[in-house]
Amino acid sequence: MTADKIRELVGQMTLEEKAAMCSGADFWHTEAVERLGIPASMVSDGPHGLRKQEQEGDHLGVNDSIKAVCFPAGCGTAASFNRELIREMGETLGNECQAEGVSVILGPAVNIKRSPLCGRNFEYYSEDPLVASEMAGALISGVQSKNVGTSIKHFLANNQETRRMSCDSRVDERTLHEIYLAAFEGAVKKAKPWTVMCSYNKINGTYAAQNHQYLTDTLREKWGFDGYVMSDWGAVNSRVEDLKAGLDLEMPGSFGVNDKMIEGAVLSGELDENVLNTAVERILNIVFRYEENRDKTAVFDRDKDHETARRVAEETIVLLKNEGVLPLSEKQKVAFIGKYAKTPRYQGGGSSHINSHKITSALDAAAGVCDVVYAQGFDDAEDRTDEKLLAEAVEAAKNAEVAVVFAGLPDKFESEGYDRKHMSMPDCQNELIEKIAAVQPNTIVVLHNGSPVEMPWIDQVKGVVEAYLGGQAVGGAVCDILFGRVNPSAKLPETFPLKLEDNPSYLSYIGEGDMVEYREGIFVGYRYYDKKKMDVLFPFGYGLSYTTFDYSNLTVDKDRMKDTDTLCVKVDVTNTGSMAGKEVVQLYVADRESTVIRPVKELRDFAKVELKPGETKTVTFTLDKRAFAYYSVRIHDWHVETGEFDILIGRSSRDIVLTKTVTVESTVKLPFVYTTDTTLGDVRKDPRALAIVEGMMKSLMPAIEPEHSESDAAKEAMSQEMADSMTEYMPLRGPISFGGHITMADVQALVDKLNALEE
Ligand code: BGC
Repeated sequence: MTADKIRELVGQMTLEEKAAMCSGADFWHTEAVERLGIPASMVSDGPHGLRKQEQEGDHLGVNDSIKAVCFPAGCGTAASFNRELIREMGETLGNECQAEGVSVILGPAVNIKRSPLCGRNFEYYSEDPLVASEMAGALISGVQSKNVGTSIKHFLANNQETRRMSCDSRVDERTLHEIYLAAFEGAVKKAKPWTVMCSYNKINGTYAAQNHQYLTDTLREKWGFDGYVMSDWGAVNSRVEDLKAGLDLEMPGSFGVNDKMIEGAVLSGELDENVLNTAVERILNIVFRYEENRDKTAVFDRDKDHETARRVAEETIVLLKNEGVLPLSEKQKVAFIGKYAKTPRYQGGGSSHINSHKITSALDAAAGVCDVVYAQGFDDAEDRTDEKLLAEAVEAAKNAEVAVVFAGLPDKFESEGYDRKHMSMPDCQNELIEKIAAVQPNTIVVLHNGSPVEMPWIDQVKGVVEAYLGGQAVGGAVCDILFGRVNPSAKLPETFPLKLEDNPSYLSYIGEGDMVEYREGIFVGYRYYDKKKMDVLFPFGYGLSYTTFDYSNLTVDKDRMKDTDTLCVKVDVTNTGSMAGKEVVQLYVADRESTVIRPVKELRDFAKVELKPGETKTVTFTLDKRAFAYYSVRIHDWHVETGEFDILIGRSSRDIVLTKTVTVESTVKLPFVYTTDTTLGDVRKDPRALAIVEGMMKSLMPAIEPEHSESDAAKEAMSQEMADSMTEYMPLRGPISFGGHITMADVQALVDKLNALEE
């Protein structure tokens, strides 16, 4: 429907109808206005499958939903680093929505993994905003190609579950832009989600739902978002203020209470009716976009989609350690140990919980393929070693040629609504792994978890496979990797620290009462570990393959560029092993020298390439200003400082294989305001300013001029250095004390002269 038609329709609606349109008719539907032919529109969770509830609704995954297909959760899909694949997953989800009459699927969820403890990390993508926004963008494009909307969530700075409905995320401006907003920005600008879901929390004192700065100034005006903003379920606190801020649709609704408030505010003149009209227009625009593009032929073919889920899962499994044990041979006598071999943990708890139509375990998948025995090993209902289960498992391991322990985090450890308290796996599972490794030299651990865990047994096992929460088809995918039918190609979208205390947010995570300060600033994940040169268990971007890749011929199309130019970077990647495989080529940029505090390097692009043995492909990246920029709080915009930047190509953040240096010239001069506190060091940066100040300083600063002794060159060098550093931090007003011939009025006149240079 055209914008004019929608406006016309809104013109025919009564005030009551318009107010009602701004909140859900029930848990999952928007309001219908039959007399005007406006249909109700259904939304459903998301993000990694369809949680469509036909009966009683809830937002915590408590009540049943229709049988559907559970795809790998965000933690895993991000690890694929494969945009095309995740787009295909999106297309599949979009088709499922078409078949089920769902207009918007509530996802993807892109909140940054500030801490490994966040209860919803399994749904989220990464500690890095580029990975989060690229993978989200891929999913959005896929879903929306089927004329079904998405709701990128939870906007903004919602990085913990503790007190999620009331906590106040205190984040400085630069950190918000470089890390937390950036996770949404690329996806919103490029993939254009139909809707955005605002979070429960406050951002620097203002509820997300009421935050004009982010909902309107940033989202719509800067990023060009043109869909509707909906609240997270129950995130509305002040309906009229929220509407003014840019929150269009309240979900699930307030049983009419807030509708009345809107009507009253319009009647009293407190709310401009045009604000209400605009919100209704935005909602109807999406309602009709879906309605007019219904695909009546769509079929939800669960078995077919299960196969897609399996293909996705294959690329979400990260091979973390392999000391010659993998891939297994089907001829080996294998012991599958641990409960998750039979009943995999493949998704997290809460609103994303899918009612899977079938589940394939690794045991199901291996049966008939190889000689496999199973021992449960532990019971994850309790964190206590069951001696009988342990003894059976040790026995099974002893009698096999290789033991694969399926371990990880029990369901109750990871869910929406609360955070983990520690980063450990249950003691009984750690003990099991150690006992198995003690009797079986070929021990491999397969992990099912949505967020990093500590691995006290890492040196005792020969292989570790991070299966994340791989969706309902995970068992088949894990076996494909274990037996080498599929070459692992996923990489960690987050750092696995050695211990929780190493994490940069450790000292301030979950905050005090309702206040949580993001004190680590921009130093989230590898940005921190790299700067601190800290050892980690597994670095960001890390993951092994059964083949090897060589990198060569890194080229850039220019050595010098302006920040308005683009840079074309090319690199050749060759499969030097004997098995076909895929490699995630990572491009980081490092600012060699900066006047602002910056990370050592930042991921600026990545590409996944598939290569047959011996094959070489050239990967091309195009970098623009943003790749070199930091967010300047002086100009409230992205800024590049003139200087040298390293273009780093890596297999992971800690394995950089090729480097090129380019000089980037800034076309923007940051305004500099001289004051009486400006130091001589800062004056020296501008030769024109230095010329003005120099003469005066010479005559006024004999007191700190070094004593010259021409016979002692070493002493002179020292003295000069000392004098230089003393003057470096000397404010312009300093000579008042040291010179004796100058007044504050003289200094002010000098300052005015200097500021005139900037005009
Ligand atoms: C969650 C959202 C979800 C909504 C609807 C909320 O509790 O935070 O992610 O989409 O419920 O179930």
